Amino acid sequence: MKTEELIAMAVEAMGHAYVPYSGYKVGAALLCADGSVYCGCNIENAAYSPTICGERTAFFKAVYDGHRDFTAIAVCGGKDGVLSGIFPPCGVCRQVMREFCRDDFLIYLVGADGYYETRTLAQLLPDGFSGQEFMKD
Ligand code: THU
Repeated sequence: MKTEELIAMAVEAMGHAYVPYSGYKVGAALLCADGSVYCGCNIENAAYSPTICGERTAFFKAVYDGHRDFTAIAVCGGKDGVLSGIFPPCGVCRQVMREFCRDDFLIYLVGADGYYETRTLAQLLPDGFSGQEFMKD
């Protein structure tokens, strides 16, 4: 799949966001190793902390369906769904990526007008905790 196609799916996913509190719509499109794509949006809550980010919605949908092997994710967001600058994943979402992905997992940070920047998970979460440290035995 072309990166531009994955990005277009993330942009479309923003339209599903439920954001009555912040107004910031976030969309994500997660590419699995088998070529399938799972999209997610942020879903907010009146109690705030139950809010889930777009990236984690995509991951949890995919994991529920049995996927464990991921290649890349495109992420975008903006006030009222209008793209301006890039919208990098929060720390909690980076940790969820660490759970399922290796250092070379790709994150496309999508801006306006087709602009995007590429990062690896190693760049976004250096020295991340993966659980390998205590699961060796
Ligand atoms: N948000 C995401 O969906 N992903 C992130 O990685 C950062 C933040 C959402 C949460 C909230 O609904 C809105 O953006 C404003 O923080």
